[in-house]
Amino acid sequence: MEFFEVIKERRSIRKYSDKKVPNEVMNKAFDAALLAPNSSNMQTWQFHWVRNEQKKTKLVAACLNQGSAESAQELLVVSVRPLLWKKTSQDILQHGIPAGLEKLMQPYYGKLIPFLYGFQILAPFKWLIFNSVGILRPTPRKPWSLRDREETCIKSAALACQNFMLAVTAQGFDTCPMEGFDEFRVKKILDLKRSDRIVMVISVGERVDRGVWGERYRSPREWFIHEI
Ligand SMILES: Cc1cc2nc3c(=O)[nH]c(=O)nc-3n(C[C@H](O)[C@H](O)[C@H](O)COP(=O)(O)O)c2cc1C
Repeated sequence: MEFFEVIKERRSIRKYSDKKVPNEVMNKAFDAALLAPNSSNMQTWQFHWVRNEQKKTKLVAACLNQGSAESAQELLVVSVRPLLWKKTSQDILQHGIPAGLEKLMQPYYGKLIPFLYGFQILAPFKWLIFNSVGILRPTPRKPWSLRDREETCIKSAALACQNFMLAVTAQGFDTCPMEGFDEFRVKKILDLKRSDRIVMVISVGERVDRGVWGERYRSPREWFIHEI
């Protein structure tokens, strides 16, 4: 499908048909998700394709038995693991630095990223540094807290979710992003760490006619687009 056609065609689907989603469709969409832009290339996202029937049943219940989850052919949980920065920054240092950029990128991944993502015990000190330097010149003032680190990871994972959903649409299937779920239970089903966060559950399948809740509505464009 043509790009803008895909954007328009994607709708949040609340009821799916019985048509199976081929594995190739899912895998192509995962590949697209992994190409999403992400903060400092830290790739702290995790995609849990829930295929085990028992876990799937529990997940549907944790999604409050929403029609979109209940009738889904496939269910995907997207989470973030902020602590993955340690592994990915080491990986980038070893394999991901383009030739000629060593001087710039080695201190970035070797020193700045550990300072920003790690040393949480120094959080108040980081806040003080950012805000003191910020008096004198423009300074990125985040992330200094665990909350900021989570926010950074979640922003990037949300972009991956959109890549995934558009890639599914482009292949003739449908999705629905969900945040109507019990995060505590979803984490338990997937056996996730306490510091992990769930970003979205995404259902996948083929829409039935009543699966789309009416014409798409958006509030007036001028409320949101500002030229200054
Ligand atoms: C972060 C997020 C969470 C959402 N959670 C739910 C949900 O729990 N259940 C649901 O039916 N739709 C959910 N939606 C879908 C929105 O309701 C939908 O995107 C919006 O109404 C616009 O419709 P459209 O996607 O068809 O353009 C969610 C969407 C996003 C982006």
